[in-house]
Amino acid sequence: MVPDPDEPNMKPAPDLYALLRPLIFKLNPETAHGLAFTAGAAAQRIPGVLGLLASACGRPDPGLAREVLGLRFPSPVGLAAGLDKGAELLPLWQALGFGFVEVGTVTPRPQPGNPKPRVFRLPEEQLILNRMGFNSEGAEVVARRLRSRPRNLIVGGNIGKNKETPEGQALADYAAAYRAVAPLVDYVALNVSSPNTPGLRRLQAPEALRPLLDGMLALRKEMGLEAQPLLVKLAPDLAPEELDATVDAVVESGVSGLIATNTTLDRTIVSETNRARVEALGMGGLSGRGLKIKAREIHRRVLRRIPRGLAFMACGGIGSGEDAAVALQDGASLVQIYSSLIFEGPLLVGRINRELAERTYYTN
Ligand SMILES: Cc1cc2nc3c(=O)[nH]c(=O)nc-3n(C[C@H](O)[C@H](O)[C@H](O)COP(=O)(O)O)c2cc1C
Repeated sequence: MVPDPDEPNMKPAPDLYALLRPLIFKLNPETAHGLAFTAGAAAQRIPGVLGLLASACGRPDPGLAREVLGLRFPSPVGLAAGLDKGAELLPLWQALGFGFVEVGTVTPRPQPGNPKPRVFRLPEEQLILNRMGFNSEGAEVVARRLRSRPRNLIVGGNIGKNKETPEGQALADYAAAYRAVAPLVDYVALNVSSPNTPGLRRLQAPEALRPLLDGMLALRKEMGLEAQPLLVKLAPDLAPEELDATVDAVVESGVSGLIATNTTLDRTIVSETNRARVEALGMGGLSGRGLKIKAREIHRRVLRRIPRGLAFMACGGIGSGEDAAVALQDGASLVQIYSSLIFEGPLLVGRINRELAERTYYTN
């Protein structure tokens, strides 16, 4: 039988990325990122390319679709914030098989982020260290791009504050970014957990979080966006009691859900062999395979604490269908990936979708 390219689960394409990876990894991560984005943007402009790519990657099996936050996700696997900060490659992500994409973090005003180098890979452990510091083109530029976003892809807008804004005035920054971005996305995530903006994580403390969330929910109402989900993204570095208090504050506030986790400051997730090397790289948050166990502990603790109706997006070290399945079995509504995509390449998304679909059939 001639294979139908529109059929989900078509035989996957050969993995060119695996062949190119040694070359790609010789480049500085930000140079590689820039090249990938240039190539991706060019591919998006050539008619037919995305259709071919979508066929090669395999469209998500219809059995993967799920209703969360009042939205219909074609797959529970999403792209985590930070890779496409400026909403530049949305059609491409969709073609790779992502069920949703979180753009950002977007700050209200443009800012360059920290000095380079600020991203480092540790391929043997599939770890990334980054101290990007919210390099953002600013909310206006991102909003302009979002105006022509694909309508059939679920897009979240992850927002934050500018570096120079004092914590006490954070609400004004989140509100400014929200005003620009919220009307153009399907959900909004408040990032209070990046370790690379000094003081940002202190906004997770209930006494700082409550007024922030109250202010944002009031703004959402004022803008007539009550039906639009608002989520909060948390760090993996809160002590258990701190995490509980933060989660309680989120639940009591009435927001729609939580995302966890962001990157970790904990260097013990690196093997002892490589720890000194990573420590020598300086400040920044770690993500990838080594974060998985720590993130899972957070997922489970949060999921035990939140009411059933609240959405939970699991993130941190997820890199296979099995990892995604574990997070979903733990009770997460959706999962997000970032670092594993860098190490495994773009075909990973289709692979995770297929592995999840096989499990769904198996368990049904
Ligand atoms: C280079 C880099 C930049 C990131 N930038 C952001 C960001 O701007 N906003 C955000 O909420 N998370 C950001 N993250 C965190 C990811 O969204 C994710 O929470 C974290 O990497 C854990 O997932 P992973 O192990 O699948 O990578 C970034 C991660 C990396 C590696």
